[in-house]
Amino acid sequence: MIKVGIVGATGYGGEELIRLLLSHPQAKITALAAKMDGKVAKISNIFPGLQGKIDITCSDLNVEEMAEGADFLFLALPHQVSLKLVPQFLKSGKKVIDFSADYRFDDSEVYQKWYGVRHTSPELLKEAVYGLPELYRDEIRKARLVANPGCYPTSVILGVAPLLFRGLVDTESIIADSKSGVSGAGRWPGEGFNFCEIEENFKAYKIAGHRHQPEMEQELSNLAKKEVRISFTPHLVPMKRGILTTLYLDLKEEMRTDGALKDFQDFYKDEPFIKILESDKFPEVKNVCGTNFCHIGCKVDERMKRVIVISVIDNLIKGASGQAVQNMNIMCGFNEKEGLEQVGIIP
Ligand SMILES: NC(=O)c1ccc[n+]([C@@H]2O[C@H](COP(=O)([O-])OP(=O)(O)OC[C@H]3O[C@@H](n4cnc5c(N)ncnc54)[C@H](OP(=O)(O)O)[C@@H]3O)[C@@H](O)[C@H]2O)c1
Repeated sequence: MIKVGIVGATGYGGEELIRLLLSHPQAKITALAAKMDGKVAKISNIFPGLQGKIDITCSDLNVEEMAEGADFLFLALPHQVSLKLVPQFLKSGKKVIDFSADYRFDDSEVYQKWYGVRHTSPELLKEAVYGLPELYRDEIRKARLVANPGCYPTSVILGVAPLLFRGLVDTESIIADSKSGVSGAGRWPGEGFNFCEIEENFKAYKIAGHRHQPEMEQELSNLAKKEVRISFTPHLVPMKRGILTTLYLDLKEEMRTDGALKDFQDFYKDEPFIKILESDKFPEVKNVCGTNFCHIGCKVDERMKRVIVISVIDNLIKGASGQAVQNMNIMCGFNEKEGLEQVGIIP
């Protein structure tokens, strides 16, 4: 049994992580922290749905106390907050999974360009493993620092990887069009996220400038072994959770839908959390909400020599906390599905 600490326990990522870990037979939550401004509160008072399930308190972060009380740390914090904390926890000998973008980039200059701050531990970027098990399982197994991927990048990279890896896709014309539920912006989002702005509305935002774009390009370039640029447009839809990504991939050679689906099935044949839908069936958000699954379907538009791929995830689970538990399982040598086998729910 490992002792787990969560920093950022009062956010959406933290809440979902607590919920998942409560059903994990080999992990026990022993320490919780957040920005509590001096207050101490039972987590079951902050999230009444946890009453009777967990009885520990949440307080402001004290790095030494947290490191003493836990073997394994999850940082479900905004970027820049993790930046300084990760080296401190690693120094105290702990394994860390960071939810933020602070350790996702290979190149500190890309981080500085898109996040507007200088990276203070660039040496750790070489060591941090990008936490997408479908691509980096062997590296994650040996890692002490895993940078959990962003939610949009998870849905995009998983949908592009099989055909890109086989060199079947034009690398200069990839288009990713994603729709997300509002929880993707965290529990305390800014202007433009209140009920009246979201309900019965549907809007694009951060067109050609979302911070997840360089993360996708980094990983797709690594896969293709050449520079890949993509057009990415995120949208907000009036759902609490879930992401649906539509990908438009121009094919370098003619291909039929059956052939494309076979490539997806082969690429993900041993993956416990990827489901490839059969021909003429397309993924829906409601079928993955509450689960760690990514569902993928595709159809070749032979007239346009283009494959259209649909990829769906629950942003809070496969896009955040579930993927983090999957990574913890790999890092600790547990069964990869432990704590993640619940059937879907729409909370
Ligand atoms: N939401 C998603 O779908 C999603 C998906 C993938 C990745 N992520 C990433 O996961 C991270 C957390 O996201 P979230 O959606 O859970 O955000 P959130 O709901 O806004 O929660 C952020 C958490 O961090 C805490 N926090 C903020 N500043 C802090 C500080 N200086 N010291 C200690 N705790 C501090 C907050 O505490 P208080 O509540 O007390 O302020 C809260 O517990 C972010 O980096 C996000 O980009 C989120």
